[in-house]
Amino acid sequence: MSIRPTAYEFFAGGGLAGMGLSGMDVTFANDMDAMKAAAFRANHGDVRLRQGDVWALTPADLPGRPDLCWASSPCQDVSLAGARGGLEAGRSGAFWGFWRLMQGLAAEDRAPRVIVLENVIGLLTSGQGRDFAAVCTAMVEAGYRVGALEMDAALWLPQSRPRLFVVAIRGEAPVAAGPSAPFHSARLVAAQERLPRAVREAWAWWSLPAPPRRNLDLAALLEPDDAVEWLADADAVLALAAPLHRARLDAAVASGERRVGAAYRRVRTENGRKVQRLEIRFDGLAGCLRTPAGGSSRQYVVVCDGGRVRVRRLTGREAARLMGVPEDYRLPGAQSAALKLMGDAVAVPVVRALTQGLLSPALEGRRAAA
Ligand SMILES: C[S@@+](CC[C@H](N)C(=O)[O-])C[C@H]1O[C@@H](n2cnc3c(N)ncnc32)[C@H](O)[C@@H]1O
Repeated sequence: MSIRPTAYEFFAGGGLAGMGLSGMDVTFANDMDAMKAAAFRANHGDVRLRQGDVWALTPADLPGRPDLCWASSPCQDVSLAGARGGLEAGRSGAFWGFWRLMQGLAAEDRAPRVIVLENVIGLLTSGQGRDFAAVCTAMVEAGYRVGALEMDAALWLPQSRPRLFVVAIRGEAPVAAGPSAPFHSARLVAAQERLPRAVREAWAWWSLPAPPRRNLDLAALLEPDDAVEWLADADAVLALAAPLHRARLDAAVASGERRVGAAYRRVRTENGRKVQRLEIRFDGLAGCLRTPAGGSSRQYVVVCDGGRVRVRRLTGREAARLMGVPEDYRLPGAQSAALKLMGDAVAVPVVRALTQGLLSPALEGRRAAA
C-alpha cells in the first residue's frame, strides 16, 4: 500500500488549492477570514482548519511532517492593479508569517520537500523586483532549488487569469534546459535575470507539459437566459463603453447571431480626467475574476442575440465554474460572499496540472523524461 503525500494549505480561502493537489491529503489549513473559514469547513469538513492570523501559529500547531506546503498569500499590495507597497508591507507581509513557520519546521527536521507560493504576476516587479528576490533568496538559503511558472487559467478554463507560482523543491524534479513556452514568459525570464547570482545558481526552469487545447468557452458555463435577472438599465451601463468596445458591441449586435461577452467597468484617465469606462470582450473568455470591493469589480455578462443586447451580473455559481469548481461545491448564500470567495481563489485545474506535471513527480523524486 502506498502512502499518500500530505500537504498543508496556508491562506486557504475556500480550499481550492487543496482541491487541485490531486493524490495528496491536506492535513492542515489556515485562513484568518471568518467567511472563508466557513466556506472551507462546509466543503472540506475532514480537514483540520485553524482560523486565525498566520502570524499567531507556531510549529506546535502543525501536525506531523508535511510533504508539501502551499501558500496563496494575499496579493493586494503586490497587485499590478493596486498600490505597490510590496511584500513587506501590510497584508502581503503575511508571506513572512508563513515563512517563519517553514523555518520552524526545518529547525525540527520537519521541513517539506516542496513549497509553493502562488501570487499575482506583479510580484515579479513589485518593490523594483526586491520582493521576488527576497522570496527566492529565502527559499534558496533554506536549501531548496527555486523556479517559477507563469500559468494562465485561460489554458484550461474560459477565464483570463495569469498567476505566478514560485516552486521550491528539495531533491530530484522535472527540469528543462532553459526557459520554454508557455509557462516561462518573457517577463518571468526578465525577472529571473535580475535575481542575485546565488539565486540564479540555484534556479531551475521547472518543466511542465502544456495542456491540450481548451475546448470550453464562456457561453458554455453560463446559466440559462431565463434563470437569471437581466439589468433594467442596460443602456446606462453600455453607454459607458469606450469607442473601441462600443464598436465591438455594435458589430456583435449587427451580426444578428448569439454572441456572449464579458465586461468590467474600469476607471480610465482620458484627457487628464478620470472616467468610468465599460470594457467588453467577445473572445470566449471572462476577464480575471476579482474581489467585489466596489461595484466596478463585479463582472457583467453581455448577450447579443437576434439584434438586441442584454446585460446582467455574473453569478457566484458561474464564477465558481470559471475557477474549475465542481457543481456540488457549497457556496456562501450571499452573491457578494460567493464572488469574493471565488475572486480571491486559485483555479483548480491549474493547481492540478502543476501537481500532476511537477509537484507529484518531485515528491516521487523523478526527473523529467529525456
Ligand atoms: C489570495 S487569497 C487565497 C485563497 C485560496 N487560495 C483559495 O483558493 O480560496 C488569500 C487568503 O489569505 C487570507 N489571509 C490574509 N492575511 C492572512 C493572515 N495574516 N493570516 C491568515 N490568513 C490570511 C485571506 O483571508 C484570503 O482568504
